[in-house]
Amino acid sequence: MKLLLITIDGPAGAGKTSVSRMLAARLGYSVVDTGALYRGVAYEANRAGLQPDDDEGLEKLCSGLNLKLIQTEKGQRLLSGETDISDKIRTPEITMLSSAVSARPAVRAYLLKIQREIGREKCLIFEGRDMGTVVFPDADVKFFLTASLKTRSFRRYQELTSQPLEAVAEDMKRRDKNDSRRALSPLQPAHDAVIIDSDDLSLEAVAEKMLSYIK
Ligand code: DC
Repeated sequence: MKLLLITIDGPAGAGKTSVSRMLAARLGYSVVDTGALYRGVAYEANRAGLQPDDDEGLEKLCSGLNLKLIQTEKGQRLLSGETDISDKIRTPEITMLSSAVSARPAVRAYLLKIQREIGREKCLIFEGRDMGTVVFPDADVKFFLTASLKTRSFRRYQELTSQPLEAVAEDMKRRDKNDSRRALSPLQPAHDAVIIDSDDLSLEAVAEKMLSYIK
């Protein structure tokens, strides 16, 4: 089969990560979770004591950052310099902060370059919010995976042990709003994306649907 670059965009909790992993295993591809990069910037901004709307501070921060995604036996890991920060970027605080910094131009410009650099290779599945619209408008296959807020927050609640369902749903609603209403690269389907609603589909069924489309 031709070597492809595949994009999967969609809101939090739609199942992008699980489905990407399933597809990658079936195709022998690697997954690039671009949300981890935004979380990495948020983590470093927080460590530096920056406000998420401090454009000047964020620009300076990004110019000195060295974020790298690497594939290991444990899956994708995020390095900042030589330090593995993968286990520090999934807290509720960094989650909200990543959504806030992702609206800032300096952050998007910095990460756009890194993502396109990675995308020079094929056999990759990129998951994120603007993969098919902005980062890789010429991707070979584009999907937009979505589900209702109720389904998505319940799924996230089952993965997390630290927050009650209502708090998970509230955070997700705020993040949906931030991510889809921002001026730069808002979350939206590319005009040529295949839209899949995963509300009534198992992850396996979504992966099968995507595979048949890819084939
Ligand atoms: O996919 P995630 O939940 O790890 O993403 C964290 C935040 O990063 C999300 O709220 C918005 C931002 N993001 C983005 O703006 N563009 C991407 N391609 C990926 C994530």
